[in-house]
Amino acid sequence: MFIFAAMTDNITRPEENVQLKKIIAHAKEYGFVYPSSEIYDGLQAVYDYGPYGVELKNNIKDLWWQSMTQLHQNIVGLDAAIFMHPLTWKASGHIDSFSDPMIDNKDSKKRYRADVLIEEKAAVYEQQGDLDKSKNLLKEMGQLLEKENLKGVNELIIRENIVCPVSGTANWTDVRQFNLMFSTQIGSVSEETNTIYLRPETAQGIFVNFLNVQKTARLKIPFGIAQIGKAFRNEIVARQFIFRMREFEQMEMQFFIRPGEEIKWYEHWKAKRLRWHKAMGIPEHKLRFHDHDKLAHYANAAVDIEFDFPFGFKEVEGIHSRTDFDLGNHQELSRKKLQYYDNDINESYVPYVVETSAGADRLFLMILANAYREEEVGEGENRKIRAFLKIHPALTPIKAAIFPLVKKDGLPEVAKKIFDDLKPDFNLIYEDSQSIGKRYTRQDLIGTPYCVAIDHQTLADQSVTIRDRDTMDQVRVNIGELRNEIEKRVSIRNILKELID
Ligand code: GAP
Repeated sequence: MFIFAAMTDNITRPEENVQLKKIIAHAKEYGFVYPSSEIYDGLQAVYDYGPYGVELKNNIKDLWWQSMTQLHQNIVGLDAAIFMHPLTWKASGHIDSFSDPMIDNKDSKKRYRADVLIEEKAAVYEQQGDLDKSKNLLKEMGQLLEKENLKGVNELIIRENIVCPVSGTANWTDVRQFNLMFSTQIGSVSEETNTIYLRPETAQGIFVNFLNVQKTARLKIPFGIAQIGKAFRNEIVARQFIFRMREFEQMEMQFFIRPGEEIKWYEHWKAKRLRWHKAMGIPEHKLRFHDHDKLAHYANAAVDIEFDFPFGFKEVEGIHSRTDFDLGNHQELSRKKLQYYDNDINESYVPYVVETSAGADRLFLMILANAYREEEVGEGENRKIRAFLKIHPALTPIKAAIFPLVKKDGLPEVAKKIFDDLKPDFNLIYEDSQSIGKRYTRQDLIGTPYCVAIDHQTLADQSVTIRDRDTMDQVRVNIGELRNEIEKRVSIRNILKELID
């Protein structure tokens, strides 16, 4: 969603921010997500993925990719470049419409989103119990933005006595539209004509390649093109960890259809994408649809799939009926025919498009937020809190940890042999230092679903224990059955099978 993307971002529940803080701390402490260039105090809204983070993110992307391209004969992949011809962004509407209203405070020199400042004021009224005042303020702002009346937004900020949280003054500039695209120069001469943009969505790489892909993969409508890649937005409000970043990854699929069939396919993909989120283990009650109040410039129907984050229900994926907006505009500006000849009805037309657009980083945060558990275990003096990540076993960074009970009596040798035998099949960890209890705890904290222990009984009867992360129960299995036992628990097939129509 464009202009109104962060309308309610600031309205958070304080007790739940404690939960978010815990998740952020956990993500850093256990190698999931670090602030970018941290030794220089970080770069706002830019993050790096650590050793377990990159595995988890890759697993989410693999699942998405396979469920799009492998499960659908009529959906193929693409990997288009980040840089595109500048006219792409003229045709797509991003140069003219991809903006947020911003305002600067002249004393602190800080920049804010004007709509977010007003929303914060509305949240204060709400906290004071004056719901009508809060609602009316938001309504008034919505109407002004709808009419693109930026002067009116400015007057509203003054009327509401909104001050800069840093300087405490109301010494504001005018409200201006701020384009969210990052620009840079291509070639050596810095002239206007050399300005190119870092793509703000991956979708346009698909649109401009639509005929190349259709012809070379010999596709018939309806068909889809899927792509995973980086996108960049110069977000003014950048907070809530990896929820709103300046550099992030999208997983987008454009589904090309006959004009007039868009509502049928829109409903189809809406249901399908919700099912996908549930198949990853996200409970139904934490997901909901939210119809867009104001449609983006390209859409005639649009809905968000929202997840109940610690800071409230927020968008993780959008499903948009984009009509022929993009292909039509590219056709006009490039003067190249972007039409499809439909043999079944003997007609040429510019196809309509239904898009599914998910953010890999937001899905990552959703999975982390859903997985983080604290549970009381033990009795009496041994009572303690056990923290663990209940991530779907098919998505965890590490599938199993292999431990010899003690570092002697030949147990490490047996454990290493098992590790070497299984490492081509699964992402494993071998560990033999510290007590086995501490080793279990460490794996719980990174979400490893199974720990395999090699003990003295192993030497006698070739059996090992498998400990389950969630129940902490252990079962004994024969070493010869270990591969199958792990496979049946962690395979991505378990999710893909649920997604077959
Ligand atoms: N092609 C359509 C499009 O880009 P969008 O609703 O602006 O639509 C799609 O973005 C998805 O991309 C969102 O649902 C979200 O998951 C992700 N996304 C958008 N902006 C983001 C940001 N600043 N940081 C992280 N993810 C973002």
